[in-house]
This record gives sequence, C-alpha cells and structure tokens, in this order.
Amino acid sequence: MCGITGFTGYTLALPILMQGLEKLEYRGYDSAGVTLADDIGLVTLKAKGRLSELRSILDESELLQMTGIGHTRWATHGVPNNLNAHPHTNKRNTISLVHNGIIENYMSLKQMLENFDYDFKSETDSEVIVHLIDFYYRQCLDMETAFKKAVGDLEGSYGICVVSRHSPNKIFVARKESPMILGIGKEGSFCASDVPALLEYTRQLISLNDGDTAILEPDKITVFDAEGKEKPIEWMDSPYDMQSAQKGGYDTFMEKEIHEQPQTIKETLRGRLSGRKIVLPELDDIRDNLKNINSVIWIACGTAYHACVYGQMILNKHVPINSIAVPASEFRYGNYHVDRNTLCIFVSQSGETADTLAAIKMAKERGALTIAVANVLGSSLTRLADTTIYTCAGLEIAVASTKAYTAQLVLLYMLASKLSEIMGYSISEHQEIITNLRQLSNMTQQFLECCKPVVKEYAQMMKDERDVYFIGRQLDYVSAMEGALKLKEISYIHADAYYAGELKHGPIALIQYQKIVVAFATQPEVSAKTISNIKETVARGARVILITDKDTKADGFSYIIRLPQIHPELSCITSAIVFQLLAYYAAVERGCDVDKPRNLAKSVTVE
Ligand code: G6P
Repeated sequence: MCGITGFTGYTLALPILMQGLEKLEYRGYDSAGVTLADDIGLVTLKAKGRLSELRSILDESELLQMTGIGHTRWATHGVPNNLNAHPHTNKRNTISLVHNGIIENYMSLKQMLENFDYDFKSETDSEVIVHLIDFYYRQCLDMETAFKKAVGDLEGSYGICVVSRHSPNKIFVARKESPMILGIGKEGSFCASDVPALLEYTRQLISLNDGDTAILEPDKITVFDAEGKEKPIEWMDSPYDMQSAQKGGYDTFMEKEIHEQPQTIKETLRGRLSGRKIVLPELDDIRDNLKNINSVIWIACGTAYHACVYGQMILNKHVPINSIAVPASEFRYGNYHVDRNTLCIFVSQSGETADTLAAIKMAKERGALTIAVANVLGSSLTRLADTTIYTCAGLEIAVASTKAYTAQLVLLYMLASKLSEIMGYSISEHQEIITNLRQLSNMTQQFLECCKPVVKEYAQMMKDERDVYFIGRQLDYVSAMEGALKLKEISYIHADAYYAGELKHGPIALIQYQKIVVAFATQPEVSAKTISNIKETVARGARVILITDKDTKADGFSYIIRLPQIHPELSCITSAIVFQLLAYYAAVERGCDVDKPRNLAKSVTVE
C-alpha cells in the first residue's frame, strides 16, 4: 500500500525515483507522482493510474535535478485523481511532501491552518502536513526546526519525506507506524517505504524506528530520536539481493513465489528440527510464562488469518485449552477476555499490517504474553512482541501471498507442537510428523512439478465461471478458505468457502448443473462424510474437483488430484500447492494482472 522513494546525491534523481516506484508497484496503487528539487525551485508531476501514465508526462531531458521524492498512492482519503495524488506542495511551491499512513487529527490541524488563510487543494489528510511545515517555516526560517515541529503535532501513522527549495539537497524524513527504510551508497542517500526500491543501489540499510526523524544529504544521513537528539546509526546488511526482487525467468512474481516453496519450506525448517525434537529457542525466554497460560488467541489478517485458523486447530487437537483464531480487525472491537494468562500469537508476512499492530498494542495493554510470527526482519510487529519467530520465506512481492502462507503453516505447526510440549501434553504420532517435515521440501518439489499439467487443465475449465464453491471439514476448511481467497483475489471469479457439513443448510441452493465445486478431503476422520456431501452436489449436476489423499475411497470422480502421502495434520501444506496453481492458471487464462490485482495492496498499513 502506497510506496515512497527519495534520493539526494551525485547523479540524476528521476531515474532512481522511477525505478524505486516500479519496484514498489506490487504494493498496490492508483496514482503516482514525483517532485524534483534544486535551488531554482521544485517541479512536481503527478498522474492518475499506472506509472506509465506518469512516465508519459515526464520530460527526462529537462528534469536533471539530483534530489527528489516519489510516491505511488492507494486511495484512502479522497478518490484517485491528480489533486489527491502525492506529492503535495505548499502555495508558494517551496516545500513538497509524500506521506503514507493516516493523520488522525488532520481536521483540527486543517481548521487551525484555515484560520491563517491556508487553502487546501486536495481531499487528503496528507496535505495538512505540508502547510503545517510551511506555517512553522515562516516563523523560524529553518527547515529542520519547522519539519520537527510539524511532525510533533501529528497524531496517527506516518512515513513522510519532504524536499524543499530552502534546503534543496536535503530530504527530511519521519516515521511512525509506517515503514521507512534509509540507505546510503556511492550515488548518494536513499529512502523508501520498502527494501526492494533500494536493492539496486545499496544493501547498507536501516529501518527508521517509530518516532524517529532523519535528514538525508548526499554524503550522510543523520537520525534523531523523538526528543530531537542525534542517534548513532547501526547499519544492517540487507538479507535480500537484487535477484529476490526480480522474476528470475518466470512470467510473474506469483509464479516464481509458488515455485520457491520447496526452498522456503526448507529455510523455515532449517535448524528447527533436531533428532526427534522441534527446536524453537525463541520461546526460551518466555518458557516459564507459557506454563501459566490458560487461553491462546491467534490474530492476523487475510491469508495470515487463515494460517492462524490452522494453528488454532492444531493446538486444539493436542491441548485442551481455550484457543481461538480472530481476524485482527475484529479482535480490536470484540470483547475478548485477555489478561496476563492469555497468550496472543500475531501472524504477519509484512509485520506492518495496521490492524495487526493495533491488536498487539491492545493485547499488551491488557497484560497478555505476545508472540509474533513474521517474515520481515525488524518490522514493526517484531518490535512490539515479547518474542518473534521468523518464517524464512524471503521477499514476497506478489500481492497474493503463497510462499509466506506455506512457511506460516510449517512454523505454526511447530509452534503449536512446542506449546503442547511446554504445557505438558504430548503429540500423538509426533515422530511420523517430524519425519514428514524433513521430507516436506522434496515432497512439495516433486508434487509441484507433477500436478501442474492437470491443475492447468482444471483451471481452463474454471476460467469462464462466475462462482466457484470451496468446501472442506476440519483442517480442510482452512484450505477451502485460503483456496477461495486466492481464486477471488487474482482471477476475480467469485469464490466462497463453506464447511462441507453446512452445504445442505443453505449453499446447496446455489448448486446447479455444471457449477464447479472444489472439495478437500484429506482428514481421515471426516473424509467419508465430506465425500458424501460432495456426492450431494454431484447429484445436482456440479463438476467437483476433488483434492484428497492417496487412501481415501473416492470412486467415480472425473476431476481428482491425489496428494502425496503425508500426515493429515500437514496436508494443508500440499493442498496449498494445488489451489495456488489453480487460482494462478485461472487468472492467467482470464488475462488478469496476477501480481497486482485491482484494489488490493500487499501490505495494508491503514486501518
Ligand atoms: C493484505 C495482502 C494479503 C495479506 C494481508 C495480511 O490484504 O493482500 O496477501 O495476507 O494483507 O498481511 P500481512 O503482511 O499482515 O501478512
């Protein structure tokens, strides 16, 4: 959601800003803009739509400045158009700003500024910040002071970059609850809302802390804490390289990321299996507190929420404890019982999802013990939790999550299993599962290659459908939910998930001749029942794509995919390969922009 790039240095800024914005396109946006700065003044250009629209109005031979900021906007306050697009400038065109996040007190700030005759051109909350900086600049004639004073007045979340004619080779940066990465390289100093924008130029990076501000100059970066005191910078070497931000021979990032799963599963397991045991040293420091836990709440959004439902079900299979999964947006407003004996587990690929961050703050206020399961090193969620366990899925760029999801399943299986052990319960068939975890990477590699032709054929059959129904029971219901989400988000085919046993209580009314039902039946204790539910849909003319294990008796199905032999508690991982490919091929068949589905953002940093 929204992308920011900034550069000040010894070479042309525009190409650097534009390539950065391209690398951030995956986050989702509906307008874009840049401001270039030098001592003559500021030049701001914006366009509604894709970056190609912006490019078409840029005259590169004229725009030779070496300082600038860029933005891709995902509309929140105000429709996507040129006025609402960033950067926003003050009336005298001496200060320009890009902003990610939401300014909660913008109405009162706006009223105050209107009393001083400030005019507003856009419907955004962001515009208020640039006028506020202008307001303070007029009083002190110093950009650094004016910027810090304005930031001090803001309530809400923000990642902000500002350029000004008054200090033409500086970029002023601030961050609160919205990611901001700074980097320094031989061309100059850089900032961006996410790492891929910077990888081509430098791997020497820092993630700005909440409440900090920074000033970028061509040869140095200075960081200040919330009190305005200079802080030492601890540079980190980015764990990602350029290759991870490129498609590497695949047509799309999503296709690449689906195919990376054998490797990312392996990475997530690395060092965490020792002999017959699961090892999660991240829990060592909270081990004693875990013994007092009497309820567990799993909290996340989107795909990560589905992983939470899986984690909750696995824990409930082995431990008789209250354990529920709740979407973060609901957790905040529901009256859930949370106290110091509650363990709250937060799952997030990005570690920056606004609802998940708000939920962890609330859980901490109530004294809960908190664990983060995150993919992005040093992300906001990891800074808030009592301990963090990282999935090792690498950079995930496609909006639709694939490899992060399977890495989450693997890790949540291990976490649930470890929690059971710490709480004094043993896992039945533990050894068989450990053996399967060791085989999982090779198993998914082989299965991925061999199932592709048939999945492609089924996707072809699905491509002109308006609705598809996903069903399953128990753990298979998790696959039904995530399978339906994958299909609708990238192919725009309406898809919903139902408990197979609930079909006859309503959804079956929708089943007509030739409708497609995707059914999962991998759980031995309920598979036979699921199969009989499916037969009810077949009797009404449905075409059923059945995803099942090697042993389930399922005669007479025309469209069937048998998963490799694996313990039923892990079959959600192999099922994921099938429904991810199914959604992917269906979307490609329909000519959809797979990596950048409409209206969706990779990381939703506003509530
Ligand atoms: C957005 C993305 C989803 C993701 C969800 C949660 O909706 O499009 O793919 O599952 O956010 O993101 P997180 O980074 O917290 O896992």
